Amino acid sequence: MIPPGFKQDLLARIDIVEIVGRYVQLKKAGINFKGLCPFHGEKTPSFIVSPSRQTYHCFGCGVHGNAIDFLMEHGGLGFIDAVRDLAQQVGLAVPEDDSTPEERAQAQQQRERQGTLTEVLERAAAHYRKQLKASPRAIDYLKRRGLTGDIAARFALGYAPEGWRSLASAFPHYDDPLLAEAGLVIVQDDGEDARRYDRFRDRVMFPIRNVRGEVIGFGGRVIDQGEPKYLNSPETPVFVKGRELYGLYEARQALRQLGYALVVEGYMDVVALAQLGFPNAVATLGTACTAEHVHKLLRFTDTLVFSFDGDAAGRRAAVRALEAALPHASDTRTIKFLFLPPEHDPDSYIREHGRDAFALCVADAVPLSRQLLDTARQGLDLSTAEGRAHLLAAAKPLWNQLPDGVLKQQILADLAQAGGLNAPDLLDLWQGRPPATGKGPRSHAGDAPRRRGWRGRDEPPRPAGPRTPPPGPADNALRLLLQHSEWWDRLSAEDHQFLHELPPPHGELCAWMERFLAEHGPAPWPALESALADHPLLEAARRAISGLAVADVVRFDDLRRSIDQLWIERLTRESHQLARHVGADPLALHRLREVNERIQRLRALAQPG
Ligand code: UTP
Ligand code: MN
Repeated sequence: MIPPGFKQDLLARIDIVEIVGRYVQLKKAGINFKGLCPFHGEKTPSFIVSPSRQTYHCFGCGVHGNAIDFLMEHGGLGFIDAVRDLAQQVGLAVPEDDSTPEERAQAQQQRERQGTLTEVLERAAAHYRKQLKASPRAIDYLKRRGLTGDIAARFALGYAPEGWRSLASAFPHYDDPLLAEAGLVIVQDDGEDARRYDRFRDRVMFPIRNVRGEVIGFGGRVIDQGEPKYLNSPETPVFVKGRELYGLYEARQALRQLGYALVVEGYMDVVALAQLGFPNAVATLGTACTAEHVHKLLRFTDTLVFSFDGDAAGRRAAVRALEAALPHASDTRTIKFLFLPPEHDPDSYIREHGRDAFALCVADAVPLSRQLLDTARQGLDLSTAEGRAHLLAAAKPLWNQLPDGVLKQQILADLAQAGGLNAPDLLDLWQGRPPATGKGPRSHAGDAPRRRGWRGRDEPPRPAGPRTPPPGPADNALRLLLQHSEWWDRLSAEDHQFLHELPPPHGELCAWMERFLAEHGPAPWPALESALADHPLLEAARRAISGLAVADVVRFDDLRRSIDQLWIERLTRESHQLARHVGADPLALHRLREVNERIQRLRALAQPG
């Protein structure tokens, strides 16, 4: 849209020192300027701005670019907006080559209008800020919610006083249509004369800023009880809820320094988290999270952690966030889902349990791959063919949203396993190719590398008929132990105990095997099978071993990984229980930390390579 020559003209006209200098304190250092890098946390300056080359470069974190890049990277603007911003500053008109003069005039008019709207909103915000200082009641409310003066100032919190026309004292003309257009004043048309009054009355005001720091709207909370609890600005040309995030402007630097964004649901959550050590929190504005929200955040960081209340509403919100995130879940990004105990939101959780406990919740968040599976299988009974079919039907539209890449392949394999199919067949089904029949060569037979555990394409299909659930880690562990009973002694005493405690029949089979080994020593499967003759566990043992294809080569590592997976599941359950008690019990916090560290270690071991 913007002709290439224009970009060069623009860069030649502006001064990068001045542009960067608005955000970073720069000191002259020889022919260059130097300052603290705004893209990563540092105490000694390694961020250099070169007036001769008109570029910036950080020797600490390696960022570099020109003034347009800076506005895009630091200000979070898109390319066109960054160019427009700069052009406006030097009085250049951005040529829009394929638009008519009328369209250009219209666009210009719209921009001016938006500028005026944000000015009006900014002025209202200043008024509300001043009113907060004068309202002991509002100050007291914020104090009771645990906020400090510093944090209130950082988020420019204010107070809209009681009374119908408080804004009349902040604006020379209360009936200026701009006030209504900005959503500050409500106009009620009663025939000939219109009645006007303030939208926000007797509320604590949270100004919402865009990434440039301009005020674009407000959220107003009732003091103590009342309905509605939060009143929000209506959508205006400058305020589109599906696009804006509360706290993003305030969080910009923290997003880079901490390397991830915490996406929460409420204004108060953002402010409380910022005060208690998580300045990287942002909130959607009383609406579901959109793909545009996700896209916007990913301009600042490649890792997102969505936080939800542990109740049914939180679960539903998580489904929408998952859908918004899927199209952006490429291999280089990390997207996770954090579920708090049902009675909590982030604000209440961190105030009750403290910063460390919340950090542990963040560390323990569920990765997108697992969340997708959990979402698709919700409420289904995977021990039936119908349940598995419904799972795959529910998963397909989600999986389709993923961008191509390794993650998409991995998730396919997970879904196939949970659905009781092999991955190549599932892929064929989903891509509308004829399913494998075992007759005749397949059009692309042999061109995909086969992974262990996937059946080869020309093997006969597995016997149908009554099916047990697809094998889980406990099944795998048992299968491997029955095939290689000599591996039992390579496991630790703690593993032995843990295996004994598995639910039936696995725990009982392990106990039987330990007794057998003590008496006879390791033996191959056929010997175990005959020792089990007439034993009630014989069928369970046969079922366990039947998951094994003769050609499969297995290693002790496979056993180790299955058992580790079981440990992760058990420790995760324990962690969730502990998380509920850390407030009341200091020992629980200690234990929670240990448990989570252990989960992390096990997860790290589970990563291939
Ligand atoms: P919650 O009802 O969970 O409130 O709404 P909260 O954030 O915990 O607020 P506090 O702690 O009681 O002050 C979550 C978000 O949903 C939107 C707001 O954006 C709010 O922050 N919401 C809620 C509304 O827009 N209107 C409402 O009436 C309630
Ligand atoms: Mn709350």
